[in-house]
Amino acid sequence: MLSREDNEKLTRIGPGTPMGNLVRRYWIPALFSNQLPEPDGAPVRVKLLDEKLVAFRDTRGRVGLIDERCPHRTASLFFGRNEECGLRCTYHGWKFDVDGNCVDLPSEPQDKDFKRKIKITAYPCIERGGLVWTYMGPPELQPDFPDLEWTKVPENHRYVTRHLQDCNWVQALEGGFDTSHLTFLHRGPETYADGVQMSLPIRYEVIPMDFGFAAGTCREGKNGATDWTCSIMLVPFHKLISTKPFGAHVWVPIDDETTMNYSVEYWPDRPLSEQDLRDSKSHHFIHPEMMPGSDHAVLNKDNDYMVDRALQKSGESYTGIKGIGMQDCSIQESMGPIADRTIEHLGMSDTVIIKLRRLLLEALHDFEAGGEPPGLDPTAYRVRSARFTLPAGRTFEEAVDELVRIKQPVFAK
Ligand code: FES
Ligand SMILES: [Fe+2]
Repeated sequence: MLSREDNEKLTRIGPGTPMGNLVRRYWIPALFSNQLPEPDGAPVRVKLLDEKLVAFRDTRGRVGLIDERCPHRTASLFFGRNEECGLRCTYHGWKFDVDGNCVDLPSEPQDKDFKRKIKITAYPCIERGGLVWTYMGPPELQPDFPDLEWTKVPENHRYVTRHLQDCNWVQALEGGFDTSHLTFLHRGPETYADGVQMSLPIRYEVIPMDFGFAAGTCREGKNGATDWTCSIMLVPFHKLISTKPFGAHVWVPIDDETTMNYSVEYWPDRPLSEQDLRDSKSHHFIHPEMMPGSDHAVLNKDNDYMVDRALQKSGESYTGIKGIGMQDCSIQESMGPIADRTIEHLGMSDTVIIKLRRLLLEALHDFEAGGEPPGLDPTAYRVRSARFTLPAGRTFEEAVDELVRIKQPVFAK
């Protein structure tokens, strides 16, 4: 349970909000690179952290991400002409380059000073892992791009999709780390197929690290040993999942009530096999079936995720909803656009949730007091989710650091 004030602080990410300022210190996925397939092609609308933007690829192939509104009289640059290294507003012809400079003002007398004074908000972009990432924080504080493993592997090692969720990003993030729901929400044919362990865990551990935290779920092993599933939280909104192939999510805040859920499967050291790809595209796991040409899933809150009550009653599926990703979505969205955390009753199995909130609120507190946000050293993200067995007497806290750090040279530039 949180106070109303903390719930607001935790969830709101618009310009000028405390959490908005913090999240703006990290690189954020904006869109797929292939949404801008060619130089001077059609611009694409992008919304991030409650800011309406337009992405375009200029004549030289560089990606620009600028305010959607033209600084002249606020017309949408989505309708702009993308030509000769800039996006030109179709209302009166003002033109802007990827750095936000005004490079042409044809409707005005040739007054160099006026042109120099006109700027449009432009965020730097970098293309990694098939995505365009942007940095929306103060320019002088821009960090290097993090060593996030799935963005560094060859393209055929990786499968990435995205879908919109009608709820706040913290709800989706919490859902991703809510380990105790696996046994309930996801009980059904999908989990058996994916080898998710269905017995109730005996212990949960959350160990704060330089990158965020490592979350361990413990089941009893043989001869006093313990079997651990360890997922990774990278601040502010990443998860690394210990499935095979490895999984990952990025829950990107689009606005306070909408999240873009990027879902990834990858192998560090080999291409995804045809069977891996068939499994990914079966929509049983984290990649939902999508409405053609949109970021909306076919199963959604308007059709109650096509819940099949007969299937639910049969006991074959706990929810009657197809696909792990959509089961998560149904529950996270059902809490409302921003969950009211003042009326909850948290128990032992919510340990991870409690610690996740604490980590984010403490990071926010330190940040507001002038401290450096966590996880900005690009090498801090050099970690991988894991499953392992520890002998009797060895604790998760002692072992985890060594077991999640990556030592292979996949990060060589
Ligand atoms: S509104 Fe864009 S040029 Fe006038
Ligand atoms: Fe889930």
